[in-house]
Amino acid sequence: MRVSLLLLLLPSFSLVASPLGSGRAVSHLPCPPSCKCSPDAIISCDGAGLRRLPKEIAASTISLNLSNNFLRLLTADAFSNLTYLNSLSLNGNNLTFLYPGAFKSLCNLRVLHLSRNPQLAYLHANTFEGLKNLISLDLSHCNLFEIHPFVFSHLPSLEALVLASNNMRYVPEAFRSLTRLTRLSLESNRIEAIGRDSLKDMVALKDLNLRKNRIWTIQKDAFHQLDRLTVLNLGHNHLSDLPNQLFGGLTQLKTMRLEANRLTMISCPFDSLHNLRKLYLNNNHIMSIASSAFSSLKELDFLHLNRNNLSHLPSHLFADLPKLRYIFLSHNPWECDCAMLWFATWLLTYPGVIEGLHCALPAVNDTSLFGQRAREAFANCPAPPKLSKEEGCDGQHPNGVPHLPAVSEELLGVLLGWWCSAALSNLLSLL
Ligand SMILES: *[C@@H]1O[C@H](CO)[C@@H](O)[C@H](O)[C@H]1NC(C)=O
Ligand SMILES: *[C@@H]1O[C@H](CO)[C@@H](O)[C@H](O)[C@H]1NC(C)=O
Ligand SMILES: *[C@@H]1O[C@H](CO)[C@@H](O)[C@H](O)[C@H]1NC(C)=O
Ligand SMILES: *[C@@H]1O[C@H](CO)[C@@H](O)[C@H](O)[C@H]1NC(C)=O
Ligand SMILES: *[C@@H]1O[C@H](CO)[C@@H](O)[C@H](O)[C@H]1NC(C)=O
Repeated sequence: MRVSLLLLLLPSFSLVASPLGSGRAVSHLPCPPSCKCSPDAIISCDGAGLRRLPKEIAASTISLNLSNNFLRLLTADAFSNLTYLNSLSLNGNNLTFLYPGAFKSLCNLRVLHLSRNPQLAYLHANTFEGLKNLISLDLSHCNLFEIHPFVFSHLPSLEALVLASNNMRYVPEAFRSLTRLTRLSLESNRIEAIGRDSLKDMVALKDLNLRKNRIWTIQKDAFHQLDRLTVLNLGHNHLSDLPNQLFGGLTQLKTMRLEANRLTMISCPFDSLHNLRKLYLNNNHIMSIASSAFSSLKELDFLHLNRNNLSHLPSHLFADLPKLRYIFLSHNPWECDCAMLWFATWLLTYPGVIEGLHCALPAVNDTSLFGQRAREAFANCPAPPKLSKEEGCDGQHPNGVPHLPAVSEELLGVLLGWWCSAALSNLLSLL
């Protein structure tokens, strides 16, 4: 983030430095008491104990840092002469109200930080009037619960908006005008629902963070227009159900985070995510997964299923996932019985890392007991089904064991050798 801000600032430095003459001229300008002013028009009044805005700010200032003071109000003429200002930080103050038009002369401002102003609860429609070049706005850790529908219509260049740790209960209509926004964080608010039209105009979004809200419902097509989104974070919400097609439209998505929700089963919500690389489903209550739940995810590299309620996995689950390299399975009540025999065979050819297959049944750390149990159990097991995809998403037996001919003597030998070998006990102790 810091690097990208620097990059944003650099070109403007050269642009605005020229009309002012050399750096030497700038250094003669007055500097507000308790602040540090550098020759290149950067003023830092960080933690200077300010209760009001200093008067001596030179009109040529490019960067003004007023973080960690006691400022309470910004009047309409607060920054009236600072037309060269590029970056303004008001983090960690006590701002209670931003007068409409307070920033209106700042036509070159690109970065505005208003984070950690815990009294700031409301934004007037014209708060950001005039900020037509603003690219990044941080309003995190305030107390915002209401945002006027037109408040962002003054920000046609905005690309990054952080509203994390506020008090918002719904996705504000104000987002309609943010057609150039690429990054939006609404983490740690109190949002309960995502409506069909809540996000639809933010067509440039690449990173959407909705983590730590109370989202329990998402309307169909809510993500339909977001075809540039690469990261969607829905972790730590209250989702219990993911309807098929919920994520339709997210064709560029690379990372999906759904950890710490209330999911109990996974059918086929991920069908259109052809570019997905990382899928986090850990810390849910998932008991069943449809056998083709992941079958469209040809780019999937990382699958996190720790801390669920899975005892079995359906036999075609990992068929045709050529890029899969990391699978996390720990803290599930795995039953290592006939229904998971396919898994043992599949593991023999799987080239990646798999962690956490601790069998709840039978107890695998007692290898001799396990060996004996396995010998008895496997002798009557049907053969592991071939790893071909035949069930659709509405497949009837996501967890069941299809009726197939009994295991051949040869395969049984291979499997028993594998299950019981020292190598296996080493492997299992790793898992
Ligand atoms: C703005 O600059 C003008 C002169 O350029 C000056 O007269 C005026 O007092 C300044 N206003 C503020 C608020 O500094
Ligand atoms: C303001 O100053 C503080 C302390 O020097 C620094 O951590 C912060 O990044 C600065 N903010 C901006 C926007 O430059
Ligand atoms: C912040 O403002 C509120 C009233 O708006 C006041 O009660 C409080 O004392 C102020 N805190 C500081 C640190 O100035
Ligand atoms: C886990 O699944 C079992 C049935 O297999 C069910 O009885 C139990 O309530 C589930 N536990 C949780 C925490 O969902
Ligand atoms: C498995 O190991 C744990 C501790 O390492 C032990 O308490 C437990 O009794 C063992 N289980 C069996 C079936 O031996």
